[in-house]
Amino acid sequence: MSRDLGAKLGKAVSALAFGVMQFGGKADAPASRAMYDQARAAGITLFDAAYIYTDGAAETLLGEFSQSERDNLVLISKCGYAPYQGRAALEAQVRESLRRLRVDQVDILYLHRYPGDDLLDEALECMRDLYRAGAFALLGVSNFAAWQVMKAQARAADLGAPPIEVLQPMYNLVKRQAEVELLPMALAEGIAVHSYSPLGGGLLTGKYASGGAGRLTEDDRYAARYGPTWMHEAAVALATVAKEVGQPPEALAVAWAATHPGISAPIISASRPGQMAAALAATEVEMTPQLYARLSALSPTPAPATDRLEEA
Ligand SMILES: NC(=O)c1ccc[n+]([C@@H]2O[C@H](COP(=O)([O-])OP(=O)(O)OC[C@H]3O[C@@H](n4cnc5c(N)ncnc54)[C@H](OP(=O)(O)O)[C@@H]3O)[C@@H](O)[C@H]2O)c1
Repeated sequence: MSRDLGAKLGKAVSALAFGVMQFGGKADAPASRAMYDQARAAGITLFDAAYIYTDGAAETLLGEFSQSERDNLVLISKCGYAPYQGRAALEAQVRESLRRLRVDQVDILYLHRYPGDDLLDEALECMRDLYRAGAFALLGVSNFAAWQVMKAQARAADLGAPPIEVLQPMYNLVKRQAEVELLPMALAEGIAVHSYSPLGGGLLTGKYASGGAGRLTEDDRYAARYGPTWMHEAAVALATVAKEVGQPPEALAVAWAATHPGISAPIISASRPGQMAAALAATEVEMTPQLYARLSALSPTPAPATDRLEEA
């Protein structure tokens, strides 16, 4: 299977995706519009939304902004966040996402979380029927373990559902679990990967080292996810390297994630228009093998799946 989503969709596919999770939340409508325009001016065509973001405001704003150029964009949404609520809920969510986005079809539809072994077939049958009804072009899964992707892929084939063509895992300099199984699997199986949280929810901007505020001081889930001291030390070390090479740490962090051969496009995001430029500068970073190795050394390389450390 090819990982070329552009060829599959017949559309231009940018090297970065933009996530609208903050639209209608921390970013009001004018701020969201400004960020959408910045993303478009930088050539971004991939826009990542979800049914659950900001109670629907994110999809509604994206639908409004993208209406006049919808055919040039890859509009992406997700259904079925945990806990899984059954087939009727999935169908209702997708119907509502399409209405908010003002489209008959999204380009990529993700199952947002693994529905559970017992409910996997039901969820895939629902995806099959939504696909046949034209609700989406390509199927993706997000936050799945590698074995769950392969299990779902096999069940999808048996049930006549479309294949899984894109994954959306978390991946950044301090969250590297995807390197162990997911990214090698994606390369081997020809599955594209749009990775989320390239800045570790803002940790890798370096702002928390100087007492800054943001998602990590406001959201307990992110505070816990990025709580370990070594992660904060890695963010400080990243800022030092960034200063040395004359790039913002955000640009280095996004470029680092994008450099892994398994990654098709990291999904950048911001809560204010003024934050955008630093991550967008990722496309200007000259990621030499030396710089990539230096950045990779800022955090522990995860152990191989076989646990044969001496052979890694
Ligand atoms: N599939 C999933 O389960 C899942 C989960 C999460 C995200 N996503 C997708 O991935 C996208 C990106 O994820 P993410 O938002 O976690 O990405 P991220 O790049 O790790 O974090 C972005 C956040 O960092 C902070 N930030 C960014 N630039 C900054 C700057 N220059 N200075 C200071 N702070 C800055 C902002 O938060 P504050 O200002 O609040 O600190 C911003 O919202 C989302 O929009 C969504 O589409 C998917």
